[in-house]
Amino acid sequence: MPHKMSPFGAWGLPAALLTLCLYPGPAEMFEVHIHPEKLVLEPGGFAMINCSTSCAQPDNSGLETTLTKTLVGQGTQWKQYLVSNASQDTVVYCYFTCSGQQKLKDLNISMLYPPKQVLLKLKPTWVAVGGSFTIECWVPTVTVPLGSLTLTLFRGKEAMYNKTFNMMTLGPQEATVTHSAKAHKEDGRHNFSCQADLDLRSHGQNIIHSVSEPQMLVVYDLTPDNQMVVIITVVSVLLFLFVLSILLCFVFGQHWRQRRMGVYGVQGL
Ligand SMILES: *[C@@H]1O[C@H](CO)[C@@H](O)[C@H](O)[C@H]1NC(C)=O
Ligand SMILES: *[C@@H]1O[C@H](CO)[C@@H](O)[C@H](O)[C@H]1NC(C)=O
Ligand SMILES: *[C@@H]1O[C@H](CO)[C@@H](O)[C@H](O)[C@H]1NC(C)=O
Ligand SMILES: *[C@@H]1O[C@H](CO)[C@@H](O)[C@H](O)[C@H]1NC(C)=O
Ligand SMILES: *[C@@H]1O[C@H](CO)[C@@H](O)[C@H](O)[C@H]1NC(C)=O
Repeated sequence: MPHKMSPFGAWGLPAALLTLCLYPGPAEMFEVHIHPEKLVLEPGGFAMINCSTSCAQPDNSGLETTLTKTLVGQGTQWKQYLVSNASQDTVVYCYFTCSGQQKLKDLNISMLYPPKQVLLKLKPTWVAVGGSFTIECWVPTVTVPLGSLTLTLFRGKEAMYNKTFNMMTLGPQEATVTHSAKAHKEDGRHNFSCQADLDLRSHGQNIIHSVSEPQMLVVYDLTPDNQMVVIITVVSVLLFLFVLSILLCFVFGQHWRQRRMGVYGVQGL
């Protein structure tokens, strides 16, 4: 921890009296800022932290942390650090000493477990050209209560549909998108997939991508050629039945006439 110095150091009593007259207390003399204000890290991940102050000439400053830290840049009123090797939730402190008074600012670092699984389902998996089908994508266990999650549905490389969820308001339930589409002939030649993008740029991180397994749609085709074959078959069958029924009529007609003549023959005896 940073060491604590006497609040007014070299300035002594006059400065203390002046401060008491001008401000409610010495704590209001200068400010310490930490950027970003919220930070998430993947296990073993790294991030930049900028400690800055409103104090014109700070005497001393630094970053208190159990993480591995490297000073990567500094100015009179700021210091930038690279922190890395996080394995659990932790708190880091920026401190500045100004005119002998020290102030701290804390930053909570949370561990991030990105969406491990992105699941995709096509319903049905067999569809005729022009028929409708549904694409459903979901992330079963969303463990990050930060940032925004966008689920994008892809047909091959082309983005078809997307939806963004605010993770602060989503809660622990599933993030799901469902989209209906009409099957095109060429859909059978592309894989469908779903991409989950967790946007943590406001939390000192980048966008984290995860992609589902690709899924194929079987599209069967009733082209004009195929339709012609179907029409010819149906017409042939109908024609055959028609001819058959005429034939049967003729045969039964003959049979019936013979029986009637037979009956007359009996009556004639
Ligand atoms: C750190 O923050 C200070 C104050 O906001 C700013 O002036 C400085 O440029 C920042 N440094 C970097 C490297 O971003
Ligand atoms: C990273 O952290 C582990 C324990 O959390 C430690 O043993 C290791 O030395 C650290 N590595 C670096 C480069 O600081
Ligand atoms: C950090 O976390 C602690 C405990 O959860 C909380 O009291 C504190 O306000 C947090 N600090 C910041 C800067 O969010
Ligand atoms: C989401 O879709 C909208 C319009 O449909 C588009 O403007 C936007 O760029 C898409 N976002 C992503 C992340 O693909
Ligand atoms: C679709 O995905 C499967 C499984 O990953 C792969 O074998 C196949 O080559 C892909 N097809 C296309 C057109 O990308």
